[in-house]
Amino acid sequence: MNKLPDFPWDRLEPYKERALAHPDGIVDLSIGTPVDPVPRIVQDALTQAADSPGYPFTHGTKALREAAAGWLSRRHGVTVGQQDVLPLIGSKEFVAWLPTYLGAKRVVFPELAYPTYDVGARLAGAAGTASDSTLALGPEPVDLIWVNSPGNPTGRVLPAEHLRKVVAWARERGAVVASDECYIELGWEERPVSILHPDVCGGSHEGLLAVHSLSKRSNLAGYRAGFVTGDPALVKRLLETRKHAGMLMPQPVQAAMAVALADDEHADKQRELYAARRAVLRPALEKAGWSIDHSTAGLYFWASNGQSAWDQVGKLSEIGILVAPGEFYGSAGGRHIRIAVTATDERIGAAVRRLQ
Ligand SMILES: Cc1ncc(COP(=O)(O)O)c(C=O)c1O
Repeated sequence: MNKLPDFPWDRLEPYKERALAHPDGIVDLSIGTPVDPVPRIVQDALTQAADSPGYPFTHGTKALREAAAGWLSRRHGVTVGQQDVLPLIGSKEFVAWLPTYLGAKRVVFPELAYPTYDVGARLAGAAGTASDSTLALGPEPVDLIWVNSPGNPTGRVLPAEHLRKVVAWARERGAVVASDECYIELGWEERPVSILHPDVCGGSHEGLLAVHSLSKRSNLAGYRAGFVTGDPALVKRLLETRKHAGMLMPQPVQAAMAVALADDEHADKQRELYAARRAVLRPALEKAGWSIDHSTAGLYFWASNGQSAWDQVGKLSEIGILVAPGEFYGSAGGRHIRIAVTATDERIGAAVRRLQ
């Protein structure tokens, strides 16, 4: 294992203190944790499965796997067999351990990225390379390449054409492409496409994995619910390893997740809430001097007023708004901040008033 980075969020503490001191309280737009209720039908499914004394299956129930395959087909035009779905205890654990499962020696991830891709490479003792360009990678072999569309922190959508090139590049070299699609339901000005869509992969899932999360779609961050699917041979290998390692999703969460994946109504309502919050926050930020880059999908505004990221964090903390500095996600983020739209309507309203 290589040395792990310091936990960056600790550095935000002084700014949080300052924001907390605002007389009308903090508006915390830093972490991006869901704040709206868990849908009633999902809560009911969880409680109805509360009497679960036996060990669950690592592979999950057939009902859960079918619900995941059904959702991918219905909402994203992707066809997978139910046996090729593998439940995850939230997608973060999988992001952190995939390089280890694969025995990867070199892992590539986006320049501006969710920090756990780098952490996963370090846990595996692999070399990690932050790069958006396969052309810049040189001749050394690559075992795993991460893509993330819509992306965290930028809210950028990678077009099918771009993803196709990544798939072709990786297939020529025998690298696995893992696509983190945890924001795929949250396209605003653009429609995100899965790596497993036939327009991207040409109908074969060989060498490909798509990672999904219910944290944002269904407000299930507290349940820890996700899944991975894709190349049947890879999924089988991952299942064997996870069986040995005891990576079991609790049975009541499996039941809740199956219900959440089979229902689109709650997800559409949640989308509307986020759309409305974006619609009021964006013009307020722009009027206050921030420009927004990318951010056509996902849960964040990737914003800059031209100052250093920490100066922007400081300025907003003075009016009680807490955001994340772009450099948490890579050195290219030194002049940006990431602003999450995961706050209640009331708190977003407070932010809008303070920005005037
Ligand atoms: C890009 C990305 N991947 C994965 C995750 C992990 O999500 P979870 O573990 O809740 O499924 C997050 C969480 O915010 C994320 O932003």
